[in-house]
Amino acid sequence: MDKIRVIGGNRLSGRIEISGAKNAALPAMVASLLTSDVLHLENVPYVRDVLTTRNLLQKMGGAAEVGEDGTATLRAFDIQSFEAPYELVKTMRASILALGPLVGRFKKARVSLPGGCAIGTRPVNLHIAGLERMGAVCEIAHGYIEASTTGLHGSYILMETVTVTGTENLMMAATLAEGETVLDNAACEPEVSDLAGLLRSMGAQIEGEGTRTIRIHGVKKLHGCRHKIMADRIEAGTFAVAGAITRGDVEVVNCNPRHLTSVLTQLSQTGAEVTIGPDHFRVIGRDPILSKNVTTYPYPAFPTDMQAQYMALMTQGDASAVITETIFENRFMHALEMIRMGADITIDGRQAIVKGGQPLTGARVLASDLRASASLILAALVAKGETVVDRVYHLDRGYHRIEEKLARLGANIERIQ
Ligand code: EPZ
Repeated sequence: MDKIRVIGGNRLSGRIEISGAKNAALPAMVASLLTSDVLHLENVPYVRDVLTTRNLLQKMGGAAEVGEDGTATLRAFDIQSFEAPYELVKTMRASILALGPLVGRFKKARVSLPGGCAIGTRPVNLHIAGLERMGAVCEIAHGYIEASTTGLHGSYILMETVTVTGTENLMMAATLAEGETVLDNAACEPEVSDLAGLLRSMGAQIEGEGTRTIRIHGVKKLHGCRHKIMADRIEAGTFAVAGAITRGDVEVVNCNPRHLTSVLTQLSQTGAEVTIGPDHFRVIGRDPILSKNVTTYPYPAFPTDMQAQYMALMTQGDASAVITETIFENRFMHALEMIRMGADITIDGRQAIVKGGQPLTGARVLASDLRASASLILAALVAKGETVVDRVYHLDRGYHRIEEKLARLGANIERIQ
């Protein structure tokens, strides 16, 4: 199992290019199930979850190729299996995204319940309830969702919790349903808008993406197209924190700073100097790092996927900061590992009180989930001595060779087999 070793203390400086967004690439790849034509995707990040999704599509009988050059060619022409099996779903919860397209186009699906993960129970009840509103019959049996329909029809669907993949699943299913579907209290994340743009290029009739109400008029068929995946705003945010925490000077290019307004604003409030351009931004880390509270909420507020990275920064704060996590019930696993590096963090339910000013020392630490792994590397960049992060397969799910990118910025970091 790979590990990543970091020797802390280097200031980072230089330019970093952002890869395509994992959380936009996954639904885009699965959207290929909605047509028998070829789907050409560009700027697809070469990360583990993308390869898992490729494997899932191939297992169903679809043609799916992903290149290290960021291209993916997908064609769901000859689908024989309408199942997302447990052994694949357990490695990637986002496989649940196959449910909507399979029911929408093939009128049936058998998808393993994703089950929980390190950050929470991760229910999918809203995905199922929405499909039932559109006329699907869903049964839970033997750990699988068995869904079928004689044909989906449009419906008004109010999701009581904002759900990103729930919105994406139902939006995809609705593109081929009879009539109009309204998704109310929909997720506004940029990845949802990116998917809506792709579906529209495939011939779908969608309006309102990026707002809380999305309207979809069903059509008979969708066709293939070419689509470029948006830049990964969370990878960009992770490098922004790397610049701030090392008091470095990092320019992040090939990204959309408007997708990170809440994060860049928060970083400015902690004392970092942030300058923003049309497709890039620059972060110069300053002393002192000011301790500032933050609460995670659905987009456009501060994203839960940046909470762990921000906690690493707050361990270097000049006072105490309260971090409140409102999206997932167990997303503080990284705090326990940072405490082993000398951080002073108290967890109280959904809140973590991070007392700054404690110098971190390198240690052997364990990654528990994708963003936690990134936060431990950020902490290691400023810890005294050597840190070895274990179980970096979590990291590889969403970051392509992050250690090489950080090394190019001057970090003393390497991957060890
Ligand atoms: C997506 O997960 C992302 N994954 C997550 O990123 C991200 O953390 C999350 O959205 C929140 O932004 C992908 O896009 C592949 P949710 P998702 O459904 O869609 C509750 C990463 O690191 N809920 O928006 O699974 C749920 O329990 C990952 O890349 C229900 O109650 O998250 C949670 O409290 C981690 N019932 C809240 O909604 C449902 O049916 C938000 O979850 C669905 C969700």
